[in-house]
Amino acid sequence: MQIVNLIDKLYKNNDLDYGEILFILTHMEKEEKNYLIQKSNETRMKVYGNKVYMRGLIEFTNYCKIDCKYCGINGRNKNVERYRLSLEDILKCCDIGYKLGYRTFVLQGGEDPYNSDDRIVNMVTEIKNRYPDTAITLSIGEKSYESYEKYYKAGADRYLLRHETASRELFERIHIHSDYDNRLKCLWDLKKIGYQVGTGFMVGIPTQTKEDLVKDLLLLKKLAPEMVGIGPFIPHKDTVYRNETGGSLEDTITMIALTRLFLPNALLPATTALGSIQPFGREQGIKAGANVVMPNLSPTSVREKYSLYNGKICTGDEAAECRSCIENRIASAGFTMDMSRGDHIQWRSKI
Ligand code: SAM
Ligand code: FES
Repeated sequence: MQIVNLIDKLYKNNDLDYGEILFILTHMEKEEKNYLIQKSNETRMKVYGNKVYMRGLIEFTNYCKIDCKYCGINGRNKNVERYRLSLEDILKCCDIGYKLGYRTFVLQGGEDPYNSDDRIVNMVTEIKNRYPDTAITLSIGEKSYESYEKYYKAGADRYLLRHETASRELFERIHIHSDYDNRLKCLWDLKKIGYQVGTGFMVGIPTQTKEDLVKDLLLLKKLAPEMVGIGPFIPHKDTVYRNETGGSLEDTITMIALTRLFLPNALLPATTALGSIQPFGREQGIKAGANVVMPNLSPTSVREKYSLYNGKICTGDEAAECRSCIENRIASAGFTMDMSRGDHIQWRSKI
């Protein structure tokens, strides 16, 4: 088997089998990696052109009742100063974001029992009443079908819930309260309800193998999500993985590029985690096929408290600084920032 032939096959058919992906991941050399990135970039250019879509991220609570062993804000970490933004604070973030041009707000947080379904529904309704031309993305973990449906009916358009790893064994090793089957059920529920669904995984989780990463790609192919967030695992000082080595930029870029070829129409963020392990990590992600960035709109007073991993970037800048920093970075990488809602290409908007 020739790696270049396999990449060409993937480029043409958007599919490969288990053995073929594993062969690529095991044997790919530098030149072949460059070829993969070139093909991934070509694919993105064909579907979305050189636009990079902007989402305003609001990290509205760091309370969390569960315990993902890798996550700095997990419920058992006593060193976290917990915060929860009021509806008024959240609306202020949206006001600032809207004035800066954002038309997607991503509301992310831990699994915070205070945020009942009624509170989430109210939050979504208020934002949509104020800004009907925006898209709302929720990212608040595993919920029941009924809860997801309520948020959707209130106006939520998209939902992000990473599967984290498609390996059942690895998933069970790194989570205490989350169940692998339930995570997948949630994703299928979200699809059924009508959300644009985002899933994704971490690269370089302690003990993760190449075989596990193959499973991630095959799961993505099966689920066909509209968005896929891929970022390196980065250790956090208060977790059991504090002394582990994090995922590499190179491996993460490879997985982004392969994902673009498996799912040409997907929206793929160049994640903050990618920018946190290398100063130009996000730019490299964009060049390898990513086409979304999520600058932070959270008040600067709480940014440091949403500490998922060590060395998280952009904790000090005001929203406007984040926008102009990202804008310059996108332009210097040869791409154009797009402030529209930036729906998935095959999506028919609810509004
Ligand atoms: N509670 C929601 C959920 O679980 O989907 C959203 C918040 S959670 C902190 C968002 C994402 O952060 C997770 O899906 C995970 O992939 C990522 N994350 C958490 N800890 C991380 C770490 N140590 N390194 C890299 N990414 C991490
Ligand atoms: Fe709940 Fe990370 S463990 S947000």
